[in-house]
Amino acid sequence: MKNVIEIRNIIRNFQLGQETVYVLKGIDLDITRGEYLAIMGPSGSGKSTLMNLLGCLDTPTGGAYILNGNDVSEMTDNELADIRNREIGFVFQTFNLLPRTTALDNVALPMVYAGISKKDRIIRAEEVLRDVGLSDRMDHKPNQLSGGQRQRVAVGRALVNKPSIILADEPTGNLDSKTSLEIMQLFDEIHAAGNTVILVTHEEEVAAHAHRVIRLRDGVIESDVRNK
Ligand SMILES: Nc1ncnc2c1ncn2[C@@H]1O[C@H](COP(=O)(O)OP(=O)(O)OP(=O)(O)O)[C@@H](O)[C@H]1O
Ligand SMILES: [Mg+2]
Repeated sequence: MKNVIEIRNIIRNFQLGQETVYVLKGIDLDITRGEYLAIMGPSGSGKSTLMNLLGCLDTPTGGAYILNGNDVSEMTDNELADIRNREIGFVFQTFNLLPRTTALDNVALPMVYAGISKKDRIIRAEEVLRDVGLSDRMDHKPNQLSGGQRQRVAVGRALVNKPSIILADEPTGNLDSKTSLEIMQLFDEIHAAGNTVILVTHEEEVAAHAHRVIRLRDGVIESDVRNK
């Protein structure tokens, strides 16, 4: 199976009282294993809505989403939670770490749901924190870390269960340009290690790291360009 993601005529509407908000208006997209894709487009064009669907955090109003050959619309909530935990690592603009929890425990958390023993969780979390360059910050809590370090913890948490797909919604949106570059170098390494990386960004310099850029406008794909 070459395509890790196939979406066909995906529609996402939201019902707000009497009014229907039409957000995604028929998106078709194939993403092959190992691709490095950036999603751009104006604020409100539907980027986060699309990412949430790709990450199985939300389900479409219409259309088909085939993830690794499985039709997501036919999965139960338990199957969705399982595929999310196993196949997908999600990184957010605002890091979304547990505030009173150390870097090590934040990174180890997804392994609790995966049923891994405490001893193995610690070994693996330490390994991942070393990989993201935080071996000297494992016992720090989020408020004892810089923004870039917090995002490294969040990237570590996304990687810990060895997912094949990494989704990042404006991962550098709250970082200065130097720190953004460091985080993008981390995504470059994750891609080079064989992962499929999909990120949303407003910044052309960030998108330039990707090998393919799609642009959304008003809930449809306006352009789809390969850089490399
Ligand atoms: N739960 C919801 N209920 C109603 N409308 C929603 C909901 N979620 C998103 N929308 C609407 O969908 C549109 C697209 O939102 P989305 O968050 O996907 O945009 P975006 O492209 O990520 O924008 P930004 O660049 O500002 O993050 C917006 O007009 C938003 O108001
Ligand atoms: Mg958004």
